[in-house]
Amino acid sequence: MNKSSQNIHKNIEPCRLAVGLMSGTSRDGIDAALIESDGEAYIRPVAFFSEAYTDEFRNRLALACHEALQMETPVQHEAISIAEDTLTHLHINAVKSLLIQANIKPHEIAVIGFHGHTIAHRIDRHWTWQIGNGALMAQELGIAVVDNFRAKDVAAGGQGAPLMPVYHRAMTSDLEKPVAILNLGGVANITAIDRHNDMVAFDCGMASAMIDSWMLSKTGVAMDISGAQAAVGQVNETVLAEMLAHPFFALDPPKSIDRDDFSMASIEAMSIADGAATLTAFSAEAVAIGLRFLPHMPKQILVAGGGRKNNTLMRMIRDRTALEVRDIDDLGFDGDAIEAQGFAYMALRRLDNLPISFSGTTGVKAPLCGGDVHFPEKLI
Ligand SMILES: Nc1ncnc2c1ncn2[C@@H]1O[C@H](COP(=O)(O)OP(=O)(O)O)[C@@H](O)[C@H]1O
Ligand SMILES: [Mg+2]
Repeated sequence: MNKSSQNIHKNIEPCRLAVGLMSGTSRDGIDAALIESDGEAYIRPVAFFSEAYTDEFRNRLALACHEALQMETPVQHEAISIAEDTLTHLHINAVKSLLIQANIKPHEIAVIGFHGHTIAHRIDRHWTWQIGNGALMAQELGIAVVDNFRAKDVAAGGQGAPLMPVYHRAMTSDLEKPVAILNLGGVANITAIDRHNDMVAFDCGMASAMIDSWMLSKTGVAMDISGAQAAVGQVNETVLAEMLAHPFFALDPPKSIDRDDFSMASIEAMSIADGAATLTAFSAEAVAIGLRFLPHMPKQILVAGGGRKNNTLMRMIRDRTALEVRDIDDLGFDGDAIEAQGFAYMALRRLDNLPISFSGTTGVKAPLCGGDVHFPEKLI
């Protein structure tokens, strides 16, 4: 899908148009991508649309996450169903906007991959919960929808995350290996792909979620824009070392985390800038630690996701890994669109019953296809 591969057509499966929808852990908004793909090696990005959530809806999502995180097993709850209903309608509208922008009619779309929003990822309790009503979306739009991508993997003993590696592998088919793709969203996950196209992937730590929470509580704006505060702050190395002593960092992959797995208590008393610097170093150091678990050191790290726009985070990752760390856009990709494109790709693979998770990615024993398909009912 970088420019040189756009026209390679392997024709294993017929090419179809698919939409992918992502509402990431950072709760920043909806990303909607339209791609053409065969679900295998051919990928052509067609259009991308994104829409930020209002502060009010972000708070409602945070409340839904808070409720879900306390549960031993997922049970319906009023705050969660209200959030799910609004979320589904916002996503339906995002698809409509995307299709208008691309001048494509709904009947031309083979499938929508609707990730939904993760309100809790509790692998310790053997469940993960993405809200979003795929059946309603299919009905409203008249397009087949795949949702619930992670449940089958978790039921089969996998981490249910990360799922993006299968798309990263397709995207990088013509790049020199080993290569690593680092996604900096609310949390950070890394995918390493070797010369045999084998993948090792896992969540390595936080990316921007804790930085966003810190900035929101101190400034009312949920972002350290370009890493400006962190750039002028002082990293508190003692606190950083304490935070890195969390057992998660010593675990062998496969491993995955929830955005609320780490406490901010030890930075509470710091200045805005020092807190931002320490949290940013926490995210960067997690990447450096994560690299130790890779079977081969990558030649370069290609960075996708909104966190690549945090210059201080990028600088700290460079300093702490001593590797070439590049914005993936430099290679002709759109680092904001990749996750949404990935769920379009995975939805096509679901229709074709092709695997989306593997032992090296989620830890599932055998390659597994995932997701529930909802077809629109024909109205007579
Ligand atoms: N200009 C920027 N400067 C710093 N951080 C940014 C910037 N733009 C986006 N981000 C961060 O990127 C994250 C959103 O990235 P995204 O890839 O959408 O993640 P997610 O999939 O978790 O929503 C937010 O946490 C936000 O703080
Ligand atoms: Mg996002």
